[in-house]
Order: sequence, then C-alpha cells, then structure tokens
Amino acid sequence: MNGTELKLNDKAFDDIMLKHSLALKMLETELKIMIQNYEYTNNCNPVDHVKSRLKSKESIIHKLEKKNYPITSENIVKHVHDIIGVRIVCSFINDVYDIIDLIKQNTKYTITEEKDYISNPKDTGYISYHIILKMPIFLDGEEVEIEAEIQVRTIAMDFWASLDHKIGYKLDDMPDELRKEMYLCAKEIKELDKQMFKIKKKAEKYKREHK
Ligand code: GTP
Ligand code: MG
Repeated sequence: MNGTELKLNDKAFDDIMLKHSLALKMLETELKIMIQNYEYTNNCNPVDHVKSRLKSKESIIHKLEKKNYPITSENIVKHVHDIIGVRIVCSFINDVYDIIDLIKQNTKYTITEEKDYISNPKDTGYISYHIILKMPIFLDGEEVEIEAEIQVRTIAMDFWASLDHKIGYKLDDMPDELRKEMYLCAKEIKELDKQMFKIKKKAEKYKREHK
C-alpha cells in the first residue's frame, strides 16, 4: 500500500474490491448459519430477509471526494467503512436486538462502531441499528481484517427508509415541510413497531392459555 492516487482501473483498486467481495461471501454465509441455528434453537423466525451489496468503485470514489480525501488505498481503508453492506430486516423490534446480540457474541468479529438510531433516530427520522465490524479473512497465507457495515432493522423501519430513499433524503433542497412530514411518518413507524410487538406478546399468551 502506498499514498499514490488510485485510478478506476488500477490493480490495487481491483485487489481491494476482490478482498471485500470474498469477505462479503464469507460474512453472508456466517450470518446465514448464525440465523438458522438461532431459529432452530429458539424455535422462532426473527429475520424476514437479508440483503447485501458491495459498494461500487464509483461510489467509493464519490464518498472520498465528498469528504475531500485523495483517492488512495489508505484513505479507502480509513474512511470508507461500508464497502461491504449487509442489511438484516427483522419482523419485530425485539428481534432486532436479539440479532444484534447474536452478532456481538461472535468472537470472530470486532465491533468498531455501533449506532443506535432506534433509541436516537437521525434528524430525518431514520430509525435503524448500525454496526461496523472487522472480520479476519485468510488470503495467500496471510490474515487481513476487512470491515463491514451491518444494518439491522424491522420491516416497518425498512419500509420507511426505502421510501425515504426514493423520495430523496439526500436532496439538499428538499423543502422543510416535506422533511417534517417524513419525520412524522418515522415517528408513527416507531409507534407501530411497539404496537405490533405488544399484539405479538398477547397472541403468544393467548396461544399458551388455549393449547
Ligand atoms: P457515511 O457512512 O460516511 O455515509 O456517514 P455516516 O457514518 O454518518 O452514516 P450513517 O451511519 O448515519 O448512515 C449510513 C447509511 O445509513 C446510509 O448509507 C444509508 O443507507 C442509511 N441512512 C442514514 N441516514 C438515512 C436517512 O435519513 N434515510 C435513509 N433512507 N437512509 C439513511
Ligand atoms: Mg457510516
């Protein structure tokens, strides 16, 4: 690694992309096993679906440019923590916390950043739980640590985030009035998650009593 500026077709850039794509495959498999085992042991089904993506080279460059960093290998490693992005979408709010605990229990991962936008939603209203972790992978007889961002949220939170994305949360010129409306929708989403969880609890109680 050196401090020279990377071009889109440089081998050093391809190396970074390859390492991350291999790490993503491993992470996807590990998370799948972890979730399946949890379902089997607890006889439950906390995860609705899992989505993952590898950030494109263009997006990596765009992110560094936005932060005013030269496009170097060092800066990619230091400042772009979400080349690997995994989103785990859960059914109920308690499932989100269970899945986070499960990830944290895996001693293979080192958590480097944790953002609880459920307890502390962003100004936009965005609700989700983010973890950035480091995972070791072995390549050419050498261990390297690769970072990944995992977002864990409910179907309802995911619904809001997805529509927010389509409506354009990144637009700087979005009128305040519309921002406020989106913010209020997010508050309702949070309430709905709470209500759904209460209903689930009541339904479980009912089932236990009427077996
Ligand atoms: P960068 O990682 O440098 O972009 O900044 P950050 O670390 O402050 O980002 P943060 O952890 O807050 O958010 C990272 C990701 O969360 C984004 O790439 C989006 O996927 C998602 N996100 C954050 N805020 C919003 C929001 O207001 N609306 C939606 N739809 N998604 C958001
Ligand atoms: Mg981030």
